[in-house]
Amino acid sequence: MPFKAGSFTEVLTQHGVARRDFLKFCGVMAGTLALPHDLQTQIASALEAPARTPVIWLEMQDCAGCSESFLRASRPSAAGVILDVLSVDYHETIMAPSGHQAEKSLNDAIAAGGYLLVVEGSIPTKDNGVYCCVAGKTALQSLEEASANAIAVVAVGNCAAFGGIPKANPNPTDAVSVMDLVTDKPVLNLPGCPVNVVNLTATVVHFLTFGALPDMDGLHRPLFAYGARIHDNCERRGHFNAGEFVKEWGDDGHRHGWCLYQMGCKGPVTYHNCPTVRWNEGVSWPVAAGHPCIGCSEPGFWERPTYVPVELHEFTPPATYPDVVKEMPAIDPTNAAVTGVVAGLVAGAAGAVAIQQLGKKDPEDEEIVED
Ligand code: SF4
Ligand code: F3S
Repeated sequence: MPFKAGSFTEVLTQHGVARRDFLKFCGVMAGTLALPHDLQTQIASALEAPARTPVIWLEMQDCAGCSESFLRASRPSAAGVILDVLSVDYHETIMAPSGHQAEKSLNDAIAAGGYLLVVEGSIPTKDNGVYCCVAGKTALQSLEEASANAIAVVAVGNCAAFGGIPKANPNPTDAVSVMDLVTDKPVLNLPGCPVNVVNLTATVVHFLTFGALPDMDGLHRPLFAYGARIHDNCERRGHFNAGEFVKEWGDDGHRHGWCLYQMGCKGPVTYHNCPTVRWNEGVSWPVAAGHPCIGCSEPGFWERPTYVPVELHEFTPPATYPDVVKEMPAIDPTNAAVTGVVAGLVAGAAGAVAIQQLGKKDPEDEEIVED
């Protein structure tokens, strides 16, 4: 993972990354972190500094999905190089040494101190933590030892942040999250199943630029990534407002990209930046792919039935709008439009539908208003 010694520009060149792409990346990071654009230069200077922050990455009760997500940034790209700027001294899955050599790397890094500790997975506490052991130590012991000399702890994925699947009922190992155990160090949570590497990269960039973790919410999540609800930035939100819902997998609404609320979408109660940064180099995200958000960045998401709609605390859209295709009796178009507008204004959200329908010229469209 660490690159050869040399200037940062040389490192970029070695990875086939043009300098203008690096500066563009710094601009994107400033945007992701919700920083003023003119801080792009400060970010670039900080990343070009020769100092490298060591990282210890521990895996506890996990599926290694967050490590997979991390490795997704290792193709030649500015983000990949930034993560290379970190000296990953210990990562069970990707490090070259094994056995005693690996343990020596870990012990040396802990003794030197001044590192970022990244934790993936929850920590079992039942029976003194015997349900997760590496190198003869329980996850409980490893976390206690490794957090002692850390500058800060970053919990990646829902399991490390909130307990995730291992903590789900009946929680046979009494699994807990990192912040349940580490109380004397700054802990930042990057929940998700898995973590989005964009948010991990942005956190690292913030740390390298300002020497501190970004501002967090009450659940220790950085506000730049978890400050807004999925529902408020969702590309299907217009359909929600218009009362246009998918009712069945593969129905016409599903094919037309309508709202997935009635299929159990947790977007209205989930805070994450998936609609804006997306996944897999910005290619797509769950709702764009036609599946409801399952709320993987929230505590206890595995306890919630995936396909049951969540309770809405603002307003509840009526579930009585017509299906995508519906046979309607013939009526007078003018009266239908006026009736629709009046009913819509009374019904709140329905007003948007009615006004929209009023502007349509096709009599078939106007027939829909009557319902
Ligand atoms: Fe998007 Fe889900 Fe909200 Fe519908 S309920 S607008 S699919 S986030
Ligand atoms: Fe997770 Fe929902 Fe984003 S399921 S990946 S928070 S769209």
